[in-house]
Amino acid sequence: MILRKTAAEIEKMRSAGRIVAEVLQAMTDAIVPGVTRTIDLDRLAVEIARRHGAVPAFLGYRGYPASICISVNEAVVHGIPGERVLQTGDVVSLDFACSLDGYFADAAVTVPVGEVSPEARRLMTVTRECLYKGIAQAKAGGRLGDVASAIQRHAERAGFGVVRDLVGHGIGKAMHEEPQVANFGKPGRGERLMEGMTLAIEPMINQGSYDVESLPDKWTIVTADGKLAAHFEHTVAITRRGPDILTLPAPVSENNGVSAHSAGTVPAAPLGVGV
Ligand code: MF3
Ligand code: CO
Repeated sequence: MILRKTAAEIEKMRSAGRIVAEVLQAMTDAIVPGVTRTIDLDRLAVEIARRHGAVPAFLGYRGYPASICISVNEAVVHGIPGERVLQTGDVVSLDFACSLDGYFADAAVTVPVGEVSPEARRLMTVTRECLYKGIAQAKAGGRLGDVASAIQRHAERAGFGVVRDLVGHGIGKAMHEEPQVANFGKPGRGERLMEGMTLAIEPMINQGSYDVESLPDKWTIVTADGKLAAHFEHTVAITRRGPDILTLPAPVSENNGVSAHSAGTVPAAPLGVGV
């Protein structure tokens, strides 16, 4: 059964989603090529989540041993953080979810480490575009197949493979709820979309074939052909006013004016300059 959420529940998910967005941005900003280990980013994520009173959702989920998934180059999703040092040219998917006050949010980005190849850049750009094309179809009256086909069309027009073996999901009072949100399908097919549904839409797009395999660690999913993969995800609510992305950063005004980009102590006008 698909659980539809009230406006108040959606706001709780947004509160969790803002923390997820902050964590993803902080991890992205923290990457220093040749220095940062993937486990360092896990620590950072846990620290930020805890500071907000949120609970990382992956740790212990079906025995998963960490709080983020970090999937490098040919890894598609579910890479386990460890001692690996990120290097210039790497393409890195960062995936994080947490709960706050019993409500979950889940998001992912794929980021370049230093300078990456033009082909890698194109894969990331197209995958992000796939996510937004899918989100645009997340509206009441539509169907899940509309979301899926919008994603698939965009990826395949670019010559990329859409992963079949993993899908997005409903989310809310649990990290994974019904329905499954595939990234491939036909318009006008599948579950009817209704106000109050909350979905984690997460295209996983491969540079080459869509075939994937899992590594002996039992978690990491890699491309079968060893080519690159990218992954972007947002948690989205279907509302009367259209799709509402819940995993965006808090507006600066709701953050006491303090953000990563805060001007800090710099005066608005140079001192001594009378206006
Ligand atoms: N964000 C992923 C998902 O939605 C990762 C969860 S797998 C976990 O399924 F085990 F790491 F939790
Ligand atoms: Co997810």
